[in-house]
Amino acid sequence: MRGKLVAGNWKSNGDLAANGRLLGQVRAGSVALKGIEAAVCVPYPYLAQAQQGLAGSSVAWGGQDVSQFGAGAYTGAVTAAMLADFGCKYAIVGHSERRSIFGDTDAMVAQKFEAARQAGLRPIFCVGESLQERESGVTEQVVGRQLDAVLAVSGVAAFSLAVIAYEPVWAIGTGKTASPAQAQAVHAFIRGRIATGDKAVAEGVRILYGGSVKAANAKELFAQADIDGGLIGGASLVADEFLAICRSAV
Ligand code: 13P
Repeated sequence: MRGKLVAGNWKSNGDLAANGRLLGQVRAGSVALKGIEAAVCVPYPYLAQAQQGLAGSSVAWGGQDVSQFGAGAYTGAVTAAMLADFGCKYAIVGHSERRSIFGDTDAMVAQKFEAARQAGLRPIFCVGESLQERESGVTEQVVGRQLDAVLAVSGVAAFSLAVIAYEPVWAIGTGKTASPAQAQAVHAFIRGRIATGDKAVAEGVRILYGGSVKAANAKELFAQADIDGGLIGGASLVADEFLAICRSAV
């Protein structure tokens, strides 16, 4: 696997008109992207629009979350099978906003990862520490605990088709990016943790960095040995910026 992936996370942004323009621009720009994979994770109501706008292009699409349950009486929840039905390749699970605002626990995230995997989706599994945790020196304990929750449920082999995204909470939407060295250190720790289960899986798994990535800082981040691309929030809403970040990964 490895090879770079740049995935946009639109979060709760967009409307039909703005998305139409953005998808068209990303699709047009993606023709020139060689040797990297690009994807956009859009709000659920716009999955059909993303599917229509990107079908036949090299850009994949996905959801920003997924239900830990299957079909049934779970009002408001969107199943992994539904995402697959709309051609999604990816589903983000465990984003820090889901964890901190919506109460997703490590156990729920592990169930969501497993639900996505069983439906043939590739989870983009987010981990990361808060500022307070970083300042208390417990970054590795926190990220290790988040990883172990998923490893315990799905096993290490499941990571051969999954993506991990390291997103330090203090760097998300703050304009404060982790330095390339800070990010690399955590990425190496994550790869090491996976390697304790299976070295080949650890070598192949893509570990993205997320948190205030923009065209101006992407190249240096993506040049680090264990950084295999990015999960891009705000900058993924501007086609030129997103495409420039994609080009930085080549
Ligand atoms: P920003 O790029 O806006 O900091 O968001 C990062 C993120 O949360 C991507 O999932």
